Amino acid sequence: MNRATLILSILLSIASLHCSTAAQPEKPTAVYAFGDAIFDTGNNNGLITICRADHLPYAAVFNNTNSFGRFSNGLLPVDMLVRDLGIKPLLQPYLNRQNAPEDTLQTGVSFASTCSGFDDLTAAEVGVHTMKKQYSYFEAARETMRQDIGDDDTDDIIRNAIYLISGGTNDMLDNYYAIPIRRYMYTVSAYHDFLLSNLRDFVKKLYKLGARKMGVLGMPPVGCLPLDVAANFGKKNECVEEHNSDAEQYNERLEQYINQFATEMPLLTIVYVDVYNPMMDMKYDLVRYGFDQTIEGCCGSGSWEVGPFCSKYARVCDNATEYLFWDSVHPTQAAYRILAKKFKDTSLSKLLA
Ligand SMILES: *[C@@H]1O[C@H](CO)[C@@H](O)[C@H](O)[C@H]1NC(C)=O
Ligand SMILES: *[C@@H]1O[C@H](CO)[C@@H](O)[C@H](O)[C@H]1NC(C)=O
Repeated sequence: MNRATLILSILLSIASLHCSTAAQPEKPTAVYAFGDAIFDTGNNNGLITICRADHLPYAAVFNNTNSFGRFSNGLLPVDMLVRDLGIKPLLQPYLNRQNAPEDTLQTGVSFASTCSGFDDLTAAEVGVHTMKKQYSYFEAARETMRQDIGDDDTDDIIRNAIYLISGGTNDMLDNYYAIPIRRYMYTVSAYHDFLLSNLRDFVKKLYKLGARKMGVLGMPPVGCLPLDVAANFGKKNECVEEHNSDAEQYNERLEQYINQFATEMPLLTIVYVDVYNPMMDMKYDLVRYGFDQTIEGCCGSGSWEVGPFCSKYARVCDNATEYLFWDSVHPTQAAYRILAKKFKDTSLSKLLA
């Protein structure tokens, strides 16, 4: 090969390399999760709070007590996602990474904190991590990565990573329904707007640091959580219609906000992740999903035990696979698998496009 053809062939191979990267989007190699219990793989362990699941019978499928802290009987949807993407077996909690020394921030971590919400008051009341705190941990993680692998590689990881955010449910449950602090201050729709403008600030901060692919979860049917059903006095086993319609109203508003984010932040791909409809499907079309109990949770009486009350002294159902809910608020691994699959089939492809 003479010099000219050598140079030509190098140029051609560079060109084809560019073509193939343009046509084939890079597969994400990291997942960062923020928000509440659905993504919290153990950040509350050791905190002085009732919002902890670092004890049996939580996540009893793991025999390794290092993996305690998940508010379910097994894996969370974020664990399933990193598995599906071929990244790693579990998404570790940022604050308890010492339990998994082989793990690295570069492939993702969860900052989520059970009982948190988009209203800082919600987390502050029970001593868990606010969204502000979760963001500051992400900043610290980015700084650690920059020291470990340099700015450019860190920026690449951050740009290609998937960011998942969940919030709103605890804000409504704790500060609007149970303790009506916010109800005295806001109408339902004004409170939704307050929550969503906080979400906007959070999304903007992540975007500024280079995040480009985000999924935001909508609210579940809050009125059908076993705890809410049990509190629906006089209407045994019925969902609280008003709380469900509040959740639907919030979800509609959230979708509008998300469309706005996409215009405000032109390089952002952001998707609304529907949790409400899949959970309603599972609840009412139970046989199709292999469930036989979708009203009560598996732990204890099924109506009120959660956190410290769902303890090793609580009776546990024989087969959690047949239950939609694990405790009085949080889904089983079986239900999370169905949610994770829906996410994979719908939202994920939009984020990877
Ligand atoms: C946990 O331990 C039990 C009993 O020793 C065993 O049957 C089960 O397979 C173990 N589970 C895992 C995930 O290793
Ligand atoms: C639990 O329930 C599922 C679904 O009905 C069933 O496939 C499984 O065999 C059951 N497991 C046990 C241990 O009974």
